[in-house]
Amino acid sequence: MHSVMIIFSIETSCDESAVAVMHDGREVLSSELFSQADMHAMYGGVVPEIASRNHAAVIGRLSELALKNAGISKSDIDAVAVTFAPGLIGALLVGVNYAKGLALALDVPLIPVHHIRGHIAANYIAFPDLEPPFLCLIVSGGNSLITDVRGYTDIKIIGRSRDDAAGECFDKAARVLGLGYPGGPVLDKLAQDNLAQGGDDSCFELPHPVIEGFPYDMSFSGLKTAVVNIVHNAEQKGKVLDAASLAASFSRTVSEILVPRVMAAAVEFGHDKIVIAGGVAANSRIRADFEKAAEENGCKLFIPPLGLCGDNAAMIGCQGYYEYRAGVRAGMDLDAYATMDVDEDWIGLR
Ligand code: KG4
Repeated sequence: MHSVMIIFSIETSCDESAVAVMHDGREVLSSELFSQADMHAMYGGVVPEIASRNHAAVIGRLSELALKNAGISKSDIDAVAVTFAPGLIGALLVGVNYAKGLALALDVPLIPVHHIRGHIAANYIAFPDLEPPFLCLIVSGGNSLITDVRGYTDIKIIGRSRDDAAGECFDKAARVLGLGYPGGPVLDKLAQDNLAQGGDDSCFELPHPVIEGFPYDMSFSGLKTAVVNIVHNAEQKGKVLDAASLAASFSRTVSEILVPRVMAAAVEFGHDKIVIAGGVAANSRIRADFEKAAEENGCKLFIPPLGLCGDNAAMIGCQGYYEYRAGVRAGMDLDAYATMDVDEDWIGLR
């Protein structure tokens, strides 16, 4: 292995086209992002084919920009890391094939990176001294997982959502309230404004189901349905709904589902470091509640800054470094996978 390692990384699993250049794992030399969110907003969610086409259209220019801003040339690249799962197949394939072409042309290793492992690694960039083991909650648009991170590439799922992801639930709630896509940031802002104006977060009683025998599993679909019913009821009765209060009650409920489970899992699995990852980690209520709980329980809390919570390629390059060190390589037959658990054996890749 080189003493200095430059990894060129690519992320195209959903609607963010992203390319980064990473130095020795954690140092970001450049990180370029083209968010397609506006192009999907009018459809109320991500349209897979539009996402794939946009990735194909911008990935070349983003790559040039990433090299320029990192101050390197292609020949300085030691390895290419790419998100290969989970995500939208067509979208993933754009990145995977671009990565293959680059690795082939430069004759450097190709490193497959699991998207969720990337989200965890965003914290290594934000906190240079952070090392496993720790307990990690991943809350994104597609996943809600509580994991035991024993090593950089040794991750075990100990709890998960049985149905919708937390982010999906934010998006759906915002959609029925007519607040657009993605819903998380707008609902968060509404809830914050509500509390700032002296509103309260207990106007609406929303469900937080417990799954018998699985203390770390979660369910968000009942919460989603409850919001849909509240909105429809108000519409039928011609009542004006207090959307800000609903947003505050909603954020509180999601937080009440997440925080106690994570704190209990930290005790059971013997962790005093708690790491939060994924887009929903940007939520102000969830952040504040975790900060309070961690302090009360004497745990150290790590939450990446907002810019590293969402999808980006720097986190993929960072995890790619640790995968590379663990001997993970892909061949030119690397495929993309719509679903894959973060602790699944990557058959044929190792
Ligand atoms: O991690 P991410 O960028 O993409 C996935 O890999 O899924 O997460 C996107 C999700 C969306 O559902 C979005 O609504 C949610 O994160 N999100 C938020 C906030 N910012 C983004 N949810 C709640 N509060 C926020 N401030």
